[in-house]
Amino acid sequence: MQNPKSAQLFEISRTLFPGGVNSPVRAFKAVGGHPLFIERGKGSRIWDADGHEYIDFCCSFGPLILGHAPNEVVDAICRTAQNGTSYGAPTRLESELAKLIIDNHRFVDRIRFVNSGTEATMSAIRLARGATGRNKIIKFDGCYHGHADALLVNAGSGLATLGTSSSAGVPESYVGETIVLPLNDKEAVELAFEKYPNDIACIIIEPIPANNGLLLQDREYLLFLREICTRKGALLFFDEVISGFRVGFEGAAGYYDIEPDLLAFGKIIGGGLPVGAYAAKGDLMSHVAPEGPVYQAGTLSGNPAAMAAGIAQLSRCLQPGFYEELRQKTEHFTQQVNTFAGTHNMPFELVSIGSIFWLNFKRGEHIQAASQIDSDMTAFAKLHHLLLERGVYLGPSGYEVGFISDAHSYEDLDHAANKMCEALKEVYLGRV
Ligand SMILES: Cc1ncc(COP(=O)(O)O)c(C=O)c1O
Repeated sequence: MQNPKSAQLFEISRTLFPGGVNSPVRAFKAVGGHPLFIERGKGSRIWDADGHEYIDFCCSFGPLILGHAPNEVVDAICRTAQNGTSYGAPTRLESELAKLIIDNHRFVDRIRFVNSGTEATMSAIRLARGATGRNKIIKFDGCYHGHADALLVNAGSGLATLGTSSSAGVPESYVGETIVLPLNDKEAVELAFEKYPNDIACIIIEPIPANNGLLLQDREYLLFLREICTRKGALLFFDEVISGFRVGFEGAAGYYDIEPDLLAFGKIIGGGLPVGAYAAKGDLMSHVAPEGPVYQAGTLSGNPAAMAAGIAQLSRCLQPGFYEELRQKTEHFTQQVNTFAGTHNMPFELVSIGSIFWLNFKRGEHIQAASQIDSDMTAFAKLHHLLLERGVYLGPSGYEVGFISDAHSYEDLDHAANKMCEALKEVYLGRV
């Protein structure tokens, strides 16, 4: 496909930003070629600098549950910004968004707004350490929690050994407090608690791991984590930056009906503007400054325009039937593609939960740990480009999930499913 304007814009941006982008996955390194520069979005569609139109399943990697530029969110942002964009003092909008969440989420009593998912998880880990007086944390291979030092960690060489940093610039001493374990492995968790009985502050997990494929866990495993945390005096921390307000208003905690001690939010909570939050039930949040000794602050935290966007978006999510309709639409889409792939015996299927889906290149295998994913992403890269040519935009990596928004109509989904079947035919049968 010809994209001369995007190519030209990328030439300029490469001189300005590392790799030409402000977040690595946007660079198209995993699929080849250069990124498309997006000019505008409306509803389920985006348009690139060369004027091509796409049905968008990336949806900004999750925040846009209402699609692009929903009228009520844009109006709320404009109305609010006319009165000023930041005051460095409290506004009633912060309380309004907090109340909307607290009144509709069983596991949140108090909340602190920050500016990104990374800030949310990083701050909540400080809170877990401050509240328990313990230093170590357990995280899982295959879960991503943002780019804070303690969380950029690879698994060590054996079960329950400490991790090694996964990024240059992160001292080993920083990650020496992080234990990285395989998902869906109870024994590994038991062993870590045996080895460090009084040192583990929290277990952090994406209860719906959606950053390394879609590694759906069994409820029973999540219940086990709940139970062992309670038994060992550690906190259970659900990172719901993707799953929060996505699989239901109460996110994965509500979906599985499991109460975590700590929660992190991002993406959907800000209606497409930069917002994150961490939250808890009971008095855990009273450890946070200025009420308690755990310091955390932010000049732009609770930004009025972002709060207004969040209120507008989450109010729509609360309308009766909102999540059920999204789930049905997603199933309508995935079933069409899966029936086609199955009929042609292709090693491919769409796995989904709520309105999240993932392209799994091992049909029929229930993939629950990072090590089970086929690391050969050649088929995905081909499919990605074939879909772009056909006006369907997926996130540019086979490890990323896709999102269906309220703005995706059944016609959009039928059209996109048809295009995906065409592209699959070309990948696996070499013809259209
Ligand atoms: C589960 C999870 N936690 C944390 C983050 C970090 O959020 P942000 O990119 O807003 O810093 C992400 C980002 O994708 C995420 O998916």
